[in-house]
Amino acid sequence: MNRRSALVVLPDPQALAQRVARWMTDIACAKKGEFAVALSGGSTPRTLYQLLAGQFAQQFPWLRVDWFWGDERFVSHDDPQSNYRMAQQAMLSRAPTPRIHPVPTKGTAAESAMAYERELKRFYDADHLDPARPLFDLVLLGLGADGHTGSLFPGSPALEERRRWTAAVETQQPERITLTYPALESAAHTAFLVAGTDKRDALRGLLDGDSTLPAARLKPTGDLHIFADKAAVG
Ligand code: 6PG
Repeated sequence: MNRRSALVVLPDPQALAQRVARWMTDIACAKKGEFAVALSGGSTPRTLYQLLAGQFAQQFPWLRVDWFWGDERFVSHDDPQSNYRMAQQAMLSRAPTPRIHPVPTKGTAAESAMAYERELKRFYDADHLDPARPLFDLVLLGLGADGHTGSLFPGSPALEERRRWTAAVETQQPERITLTYPALESAAHTAFLVAGTDKRDALRGLLDGDSTLPAARLKPTGDLHIFADKAAVG
């Protein structure tokens, strides 16, 4: 996969959100039946989520979508740092979303990661991922300035996990729960959303396939798009 061929450049964050909302809606409408999405956390996707529940509300097939997260902060779901809370406020509470699968944040981060893995396996109805049957129809990912994605950070043992579908990341504050590469890569369609001048170096590394960056090590089974604004491309 030539990453450069996957790059779509938009003039600004609003245009990026608009373009990704269109892309997501077209993919969701083109597929019949269940549609599983892994949402990204952070701040970049907020406008996208607001658009889906706003301008795209009538087109998006809400009732057959299962909502998951690529990662979560180990905080309560009403904590301002919660990725669940951000998506809930921006989108999920504003549309008919009967099939939401929040990352559990009870007990310890390790216990929550295990509980989330059990939920994913229950949904997938198997304990092993089949490349011919992706776990997710669509995965949204952000890009950190240090090249992390989800909560897969440089130097983390979670980067080497190829059996488990989730991992607890206790080195961050707050602690995190993240999907591991096998689960994140089990996707029919994957999109990075990258905006802002602070992401320039990380985006260049992603496009160049710099394997020191966790984001650049992701090898999705399906197609990969990188939606970036001009500020991030430089
Ligand atoms: C999180 C995200 C994280 C995020 C990047 C980019 O939980 O914060 O999963 O990977 O996507 O850090 O964050 P911004 O969109 O806020 O720049």
